[in-house]
Amino acid sequence: MTTELAALRSQSRAVLSAAGVPSPEADTEEILAVALGLPRTSLAFAPAATPEQERRITELTARRARREPLQHIVGGTGFRHLWLTVGPGVFIPRPETEGLVQAVLDHLDRTVGVIDSGLAAADRGDTDTGPLVVDFCAGSGAVGLAIATERPGTRVVAVEKDPAAVTWLRRNAADHAEEIRAVGSEFAIVVADLLDEPLAQVSRQVTAGQVSVVVSNPPYIPVGAVPRDPEVRDYDPPIALYGGRDGMAVVRPLIELAAVLLQPGGLIAVEHGDDQGDETSGAYGVPDLLRAHGGFVGVRDLRDLAGRPRVTVARLG
Ligand SMILES: C[S@@+](CC[C@H](N)C(=O)[O-])C[C@H]1O[C@@H](n2cnc3c(N)ncnc32)[C@H](O)[C@@H]1O
Repeated sequence: MTTELAALRSQSRAVLSAAGVPSPEADTEEILAVALGLPRTSLAFAPAATPEQERRITELTARRARREPLQHIVGGTGFRHLWLTVGPGVFIPRPETEGLVQAVLDHLDRTVGVIDSGLAAADRGDTDTGPLVVDFCAGSGAVGLAIATERPGTRVVAVEKDPAAVTWLRRNAADHAEEIRAVGSEFAIVVADLLDEPLAQVSRQVTAGQVSVVVSNPPYIPVGAVPRDPEVRDYDPPIALYGGRDGMAVVRPLIELAAVLLQPGGLIAVEHGDDQGDETSGAYGVPDLLRAHGGFVGVRDLRDLAGRPRVTVARLG
């Protein structure tokens, strides 16, 4: 016997609403799609669920009602044009970070010449000519993989400390290896701690003074400011969230390192909290730190689609 999907849909929606899930409608759709093994757009053509599918819908709904992130339940998330596999132990990439990627792509388009130069180099078997981008605090690989696949001929080095995150990073890099190769880009992973002689650890892949872009979405939440959403507080790894007393414990060494690695005119692009930008910050904003360093010029704070300051960019003087 089958059960009408409409009944299961409203049941699941009611359970998620009662649990305080912020988007019960959309999450129900995703859960139904996973349970039925269909794309969301095809749900309209599936009027009923088998007993096994119904059991699965109930189970997945209960997990979401306990505020387990939807991305863990469906096994991944979209980021720009990529599908990234995520689960326990790795930070879930956020839509805000897509703006960080765009800032890097805009810089490369402005400064590194024609977009297909890397492809031409790859055809010649010359793999050492494209711009070099280092993605510190790489997590699932969202930032670095988006850049490597969207900007032909780019060499990306992704640096991550946490072994749990590195497992997901390797998996996503393998999943997208063919796309990276097809556009003449390269992607390498370095397991290293930004707080523990990172230069020595990245020096096999990266030469000081030759990097075009240092990009990072580091942990930046002050330890005392525990996030309210259970999906973040209870499921994102603490190492991905907290950046010491003022949130800048990883950003400070990142800036020092960027000053050593970047070529003159090279870009640093750092994501930060919306209270750590130009207008809203006190002494501990990312723009303040970059200006105080003295080695960078053109420090600018960029806003996300909601108008909040989220990314600081600057060039090495
Ligand atoms: C906010 S997450 C960003 C992940 C990914 N770049 C993204 O945007 O989805 C920060 C990442 O930094 C890593 N991390 C934290 N401290 C680090 C350190 N000292 N050295 C290297 N990576 C670090 C964490 O493990 C986590 O994966």
